[in-house]
Amino acid sequence: DWNSSNVIEEQVARIRAQVGDARVICGLSGGVDSAVAAALVQKAVGDQLTCVFVDHGLLRADERKQVEEDYVASTGVRLVTIDAQQQFLDALAGVSDPEQKRKIIGREFIRTFEAAAEALVLEARAESAEGSASGEVKFLVQGTLYPDVVESGGGSGTANIKSHHNVGGLPDDMTFELVEPLRTLFKDEVRAVGRELGLPEVIVGRQPFPGPGLGIRIVGEVTAERLELLRAADKIAREELTAAGLDQEIWQCPVVLLADVRSVGVQGDGRTYGHPIVLRPVSSEDAMTADWTRLPYDTLAKISNRITNEVKDVNRVVLDVTSKPPGTIEWE
Ligand code: XMP
Repeated sequence: DWNSSNVIEEQVARIRAQVGDARVICGLSGGVDSAVAAALVQKAVGDQLTCVFVDHGLLRADERKQVEEDYVASTGVRLVTIDAQQQFLDALAGVSDPEQKRKIIGREFIRTFEAAAEALVLEARAESAEGSASGEVKFLVQGTLYPDVVESGGGSGTANIKSHHNVGGLPDDMTFELVEPLRTLFKDEVRAVGRELGLPEVIVGRQPFPGPGLGIRIVGEVTAERLELLRAADKIAREELTAAGLDQEIWQCPVVLLADVRSVGVQGDGRTYGHPIVLRPVSSEDAMTADWTRLPYDTLAKISNRITNEVKDVNRVVLDVTSKPPGTIEWE
């Protein structure tokens, strides 16, 4: 039967066998999965691991700081941050199709990891006088979970619902070999493993956030202005949900910008023609199915008032009352 120390023991042995004495990089997203995957690999191969945090500009407010401070403080892991905001924006310019966005984001992640790995090799060569070959980085750790595999069409007999950025979204010419210690686990099991490994509750208890970030929460083309607007709305929703003590009650609450939709409003003493923001609070056990969360009206009212008052170009807030199925949790 299932228990987290067995999983840890088994995965640590597997990681050691797979990796040997090679060097490994792990992309940290700020989410639970990559944090726990990295902690497992760190336990297995120690400082053969370097974590890479890609700031792709599709992050929520304060996410970068959280990884750079909280995660490093609690694990002591070596972390490299790469500013790739312009690279991702350029790659996404003119693209509205959800699957295309996911594939582009998956590809840019890998290209960024490749560049990071190359930089590490050069650094290692510079440090060792004889230019040792042991500096090579062959492995990439990913926090892929069982549901990601299933929904990307990787499980047996399942359709491709979405290309999760770390499964169906990977480029064909990638040279890394993947290390995926969470591939058989569900989210609650990953959290149990993370707690057993001693990760703090601020990391382990976080609500899920998708690797492609706000890029798949803008329905329409992703631009810097739209990201800024969505980031502001998302921050307000999170602040109010936290203030109402609802963080642990809900599984997650995507905040979505309908960038290609406009509606007429009246704000101040004039007509506006702005965008709607969608709130998508859901309750779930494992994200494979979900129900929409009946949030208190007062909390919804506060979020709606603040977003329409504080976020420019948003004149309407709507609530998504769809379960999964038929709706997925994210809109794209
Ligand atoms: P959906 O939208 O498929 O989402 O119902 C199920 C869960 O997975 C998260 N999600 C992702 N996580 N990379 C991730 O790491 C992705 O590409 C991705 N797409 C969706 C989503 O937030 C929800 O928790």
